[in-house]
Amino acid sequence: MNPPVLHFNLLLAWLWILLGFLSGSLLGLKFHREEWLGGYASHKRRLYRLGHISFFGLALMNLLFYFTARSFPSSSMAVEVAAWAFILGAISMPLCCLIMAHKPQARALFLVPVLNLLAAGTLTFWEVLKL
Ligand code: HEM
Repeated sequence: MNPPVLHFNLLLAWLWILLGFLSGSLLGLKFHREEWLGGYASHKRRLYRLGHISFFGLALMNLLFYFTARSFPSSSMAVEVAAWAFILGAISMPLCCLIMAHKPQARALFLVPVLNLLAAGTLTFWEVLKL
């Protein structure tokens, strides 16, 4: 049986794809201005772009996890922890990009998405090895 949290991975994946389109549309309103946010290569602009792209990347991770976890013969604590860690990673990454764009000294905050995603990936890999 699949853990109920899997439904959230699927829901979040599609919501994040929509937010990716929305954030891209917002960037699109100003991106023709050479000096917007300090220019294309500025720290602020790069982090806004990273936030936009991270919606799609982490949507795909959650979607992949959803289909992979459905192929596991049984649910386990590891699968449930991985599911939540994928969700927390997806929520915290674009948030960290936004915070970092305005507070570069908050760099250590990236540990939240990074550790969650490393844990999620490791647990999923472990479960796949057992198939
Ligand atoms: C409604 C759909 C989308 C809109 C309106 C949109 C808009 C934008 C805009 C305006 C930029 C430039 C930001 C800047 O100048 O700083 C950008 C960059 C980027 N977008 Fe999107 N985007 C969309 C969908 C996507 C999708 C589906 C992907 C990939 C899965 C994607 C990946 C990227 C990447 C990788 C960059 C950085 C490109 C670079 O730095 O050369 N975007 N997007």
